Amino acid sequence: MSDLKIGIIVGSTRPGRNGIQVGQWVKENASADGVEFELVDLHDFKLPLLEEPFPAGAGNYLGDEANAWASKVAEFDGFIFVSAEYNHSVPAALKNALDYVNAEWNNKAAAIVSYGSMGGVRAGEHLRQIFGELQMADVRTHVMFSLFTDFTYGENGESTFTPAALKAGELEGQISQLAAWARALQPLRAEADELAA
Ligand SMILES: Cc1cc2nc3c(=O)[nH]c(=O)nc-3n(C[C@H](O)[C@H](O)[C@H](O)COP(=O)(O)O)c2cc1C
Repeated sequence: MSDLKIGIIVGSTRPGRNGIQVGQWVKENASADGVEFELVDLHDFKLPLLEEPFPAGAGNYLGDEANAWASKVAEFDGFIFVSAEYNHSVPAALKNALDYVNAEWNNKAAAIVSYGSMGGVRAGEHLRQIFGELQMADVRTHVMFSLFTDFTYGENGESTFTPAALKAGELEGQISQLAAWARALQPLRAEADELAA
């Protein structure tokens, strides 16, 4: 029986992306008492570039894609964001998905898993700035993967995710912080739900 639901959001959508391999690894290695994990692939949601007025209406968006995305985000108590680094920042698809809804993110916990030539650290730090504005509590542990040492490459350049063994332990520590904060914020989320009802 679980009391927490954590979404693992794959934040890149391009053909041949590494993000889906990293997201699947997170899902396979994620476990914590009382927590259910779900892989959420942004590619499945086909969000247009922000087509909603602001402030967006919680649970009452104009577009079908927006309503589907908002309902999915609303299901979770916290998130693990799996992010690439594009031009030293967050992939546009992930920024768009973050911008699309607002209340659905508030008072939830967030953790960052990133990858890139420098572990995606610059995208991760940008994400922390965004989380503050969305009233999300981001945990300290940031799991980073190097394109040079955590992936192997075939003759035609195709990549396979082969993470260092110690990364599973880092993820475990990150998830225990994430679950603790997601639980601690439950009363705030309940209060906000009551006010909205
Ligand atoms: C548009 C674009 C910009 C990129 N910029 C960076 C960058 O600034 N820093 C970096 O470490 N890697 C950069 N890369 C390389 C990506 O880290 C690498 O391609 C990674 O696999 C991208 O994630 P994805 O495969 O899930 O799309 C960039 C890749 C793309 C497609």
